[in-house]
Amino acid sequence: MKIVPSKKTENIRYAIRDIVVEARKLKKTGKEIIYLNIGDPMVYDFETPRHMIDAVEKNWSRSSSYADSMGISEAREAVAREAARLGIKGVADENVLITAGGSEGIMMSVSAIMNRGENILTPTPGYPLYNSAVAQFEGVMNSYKLDEENEWQPDIEDMRKKINKKTKAIVVINPNNPTGSLYTKSTLKKIIDIAGEHDIPIFSDETYDKMILDDEFSFTALGSIAGDVPVVTFNTLSKNYLVPGWRIGWMIFSGPEEAKAEYEEAVKKIARARLSINHPQQYAVKAALEGPQGHIRETVKTLRKRRDITCKRINEIDGLSVRKPRAAFYAFPRIDVSVRSDEEFVKKLLEEEGVLFVYGSGFGPLDGNYFRVVFAASEEALNSAYDRLGRFMKRNWG
Ligand SMILES: Cc1ncc(COP(=O)(O)O)c(C=O)c1O
Repeated sequence: MKIVPSKKTENIRYAIRDIVVEARKLKKTGKEIIYLNIGDPMVYDFETPRHMIDAVEKNWSRSSSYADSMGISEAREAVAREAARLGIKGVADENVLITAGGSEGIMMSVSAIMNRGENILTPTPGYPLYNSAVAQFEGVMNSYKLDEENEWQPDIEDMRKKINKKTKAIVVINPNNPTGSLYTKSTLKKIIDIAGEHDIPIFSDETYDKMILDDEFSFTALGSIAGDVPVVTFNTLSKNYLVPGWRIGWMIFSGPEEAKAEYEEAVKKIARARLSINHPQQYAVKAALEGPQGHIRETVKTLRKRRDITCKRINEIDGLSVRKPRAAFYAFPRIDVSVRSDEEFVKKLLEEEGVLFVYGSGFGPLDGNYFRVVFAASEEALNSAYDRLGRFMKRNWG
């Protein structure tokens, strides 16, 4: 007997983890590897705020039951207040759903909106889960470009061109993974206008909204300026609050009631069918959003230094160039030398120098060759990785 997997699993790709298979093989040979591939601050030198751990521990023994399918009230209420602080109007706790990481919210939202053959507009480069979700729910990939020349802001004209009658939603990832770009209010307004003209909602992924690296820039929650356009906002404790392993995220439904009510109920149906997410860790949500925020200042300060080292060192290497990321812990350098593919470049670097990045094409089909750097690692690890990268470039293309 042979179990045959479904066709819809064929196009599910996740380069961020797939590339680790190569590294594992190499590690077995005894090679020391610097991992700059995975967006998990906890594998580097960051620490979960103590008051969040305390909040979970305090409630641990009374949270062995299933939780409410929508999430515990305390967490939903805290997220509704967070929405108000962000300027997203009219959000009550019933408009919040606590999810198993932002990832579950993304999967449920795509599942509830898309029929076979329809599409969702996703950014390229962009976080690959969206395209995996589209593949899994038998949709058609439809991506709009982010413009490197314009600090990786969405290319509004391209977005306009790509929308068609079967487009069900526009995905905005701001701050962006993998480029670290932060979108201006004026860019967001243009996207809202397009969504309004076509009567489609926006899925706004704001996973890194508290990791803004420069004081002269500020974050705008898309839902706070969307007017009549319905918005589903995704966020998570994973990155801002340094607990990716706890698997706690949320989604917020905002916009006119008549536009969103039926869809919101469809997502909630999916949530009820999966009973509940992990219960104890939900007690961290209120503690995180409304407790001390000092760790965010510290994290941002540390990341700013690491970002600056990253940009300086990479821009000094002949054949590579990188735009300055303004948020999160990702940079997306361009490879300006002749290579067959960025996947081959990244694998060759891994083999020759033991430095692991994710190849750019793992974030969608791109015009050039790129790779993603996670600069959450220590300054020492980063400097050593960039020494090796410089050596690699000189040896092969110098
Ligand atoms: C843009 C973006 N959205 C969503 C997620 C999912 O995060 P989680 O499921 O850990 O909350 C990630 C994780 O890297 C991300 O970068």
